Amino acid sequence: MEGMILVHVLVFLVALIWYIFIRRNRTNTAKLPPGSLGWPYIGETLQLYSQDPNVFFANKQKRYGEIFKTHILGCPSIMLASPEAARFVLVNQAHLFKPTYPKSKENLIGPLALFFHEGEYHARLRKLVQGSLSLDNLRGLVPDIEAIAVSALNSWADDGHIVNTFHEMKKLSFEVGILAIFGHLETSQKEQLKRNYSIVDKGYNSFPTKLPGTPFKNAFMARRRLQKILSELISERKEKRSTEKDLLGCLLNSKDEKGEILSEDQIADNIIGVLFAAQDTTASAMTWILKYLHDHPKLLETVKGEQKQIHQLNDDANLQLTWAQTRNMPITHKVILESLRMASIISFTFREAVTDVEYKGYRIPKGWKVMPLFRNIHHNPEFFHNPQEFDPSRFEVAPKPNTFMPFGSGVHACPGNELAKLEMLIMVHHLVTKYRWEVVGSKSGIQYGPFPVPMHGLPAKFLKESTQEKGAILCGAFL
Ligand code: HEM
Repeated sequence: MEGMILVHVLVFLVALIWYIFIRRNRTNTAKLPPGSLGWPYIGETLQLYSQDPNVFFANKQKRYGEIFKTHILGCPSIMLASPEAARFVLVNQAHLFKPTYPKSKENLIGPLALFFHEGEYHARLRKLVQGSLSLDNLRGLVPDIEAIAVSALNSWADDGHIVNTFHEMKKLSFEVGILAIFGHLETSQKEQLKRNYSIVDKGYNSFPTKLPGTPFKNAFMARRRLQKILSELISERKEKRSTEKDLLGCLLNSKDEKGEILSEDQIADNIIGVLFAAQDTTASAMTWILKYLHDHPKLLETVKGEQKQIHQLNDDANLQLTWAQTRNMPITHKVILESLRMASIISFTFREAVTDVEYKGYRIPKGWKVMPLFRNIHHNPEFFHNPQEFDPSRFEVAPKPNTFMPFGSGVHACPGNELAKLEMLIMVHHLVTKYRWEVVGSKSGIQYGPFPVPMHGLPAKFLKESTQEKGAILCGAFL
């Protein structure tokens, strides 16, 4: 009897070892994707930064196909330019890949911000951020966002000066970010946040060194001051014992299943994280919308006509229903979607393989970076006919699944996308119904900072349309 058991155990062990061996061998024999790794350590980083990064990726795709390897920023990487591959990494097999950012950037924003995390902690924070940006909450923010947009537009036109559109849009989206996070703040508190945040922002893409006087060191010091300011705002809110539904309120009132509340560091890092995720992205998108409308005067007239018909910006038709891709979607919404496709503000994202992964016969080794290339997908003629042409009418038909991902996809997809679209819609509404604008200087070219922005931030002059017309439009918009 004992002998039989031993034989069974042996057979089982041999089968197990054989299975593990076959599996490992199968993964190991799979080949790496085509491509080149360039020079030792620096890889192809210089090629990437000595030209438009989109040209770098597009040329690679032309040469090697939709999956290729390269070596950039000190890391061996695999680029994925097909919708299926992006879905594989971001949605279907997301657990095999983790988010990855340079440590210096992680420390500047705050290592406890949700986008550096996975699993339970990430899910908890994500639910809170999403909750604070629910459509119900957004509907309540419409009048305040309108006030921010109107005041910004007035100041650009009052000046009569040439303004740097991107810089001004950054101020606008910062104000909206502050509103979504804190509700109404005192001007002095807002100014303190603005001053220090802009120093962090300036240092974010600089060389990470702690040498005094460098942008990175300045950013590091400003981040410390921000922590103190946030700590004061948190204490103030706790004292009030109010149950606000803004992000700070949601973070402060959260308890996990064990009844644990979030720490002050967790709250502060996530507030800075959301501000960071919200500002340049939305500002860049709005700058592109202005450029595209300016470059297409006939389309601008149609958008103008449509916006003059709108009576209330915060009814459901504007906020929600019309964002679905339908033939009846307002042209303004199509313009926003087409601008997001054309500009592809987040051109790609980074993940890191947590184990050896096999995809379509190719090996993705553990520790390698994996980059779904949103822009390449958005500019592939197979999915978007004549992709270099700005044509909002293409959104009369829904894009094929996984081919349109301006806000990413899967567990880390953008929780701020509705706020971003609302902000763009409100800005466009007030801009086209009350102002004219002229782009000054060079009208072409892209600048990366790191998000793509029209050259020199799109210098422009804004002019208020005649008072009589303005009165009529205001009645139309608000009554
Ligand atoms: C046009 C504007 C925006 C664009 C194009 C954009 C795009 C994106 C994309 C592509 C991602 C996914 C990144 C990845 O998978 O690695 C993302 C994540 C994120 N976005 Fe946005 N975003 C915009 C505006 C906003 C706004 C207004 C907010 C907040 C108010 C926001 C908050 C976030 C956060 C917190 C994440 C991380 C989510 C997570 O890791 O679970 N974004 N965004």
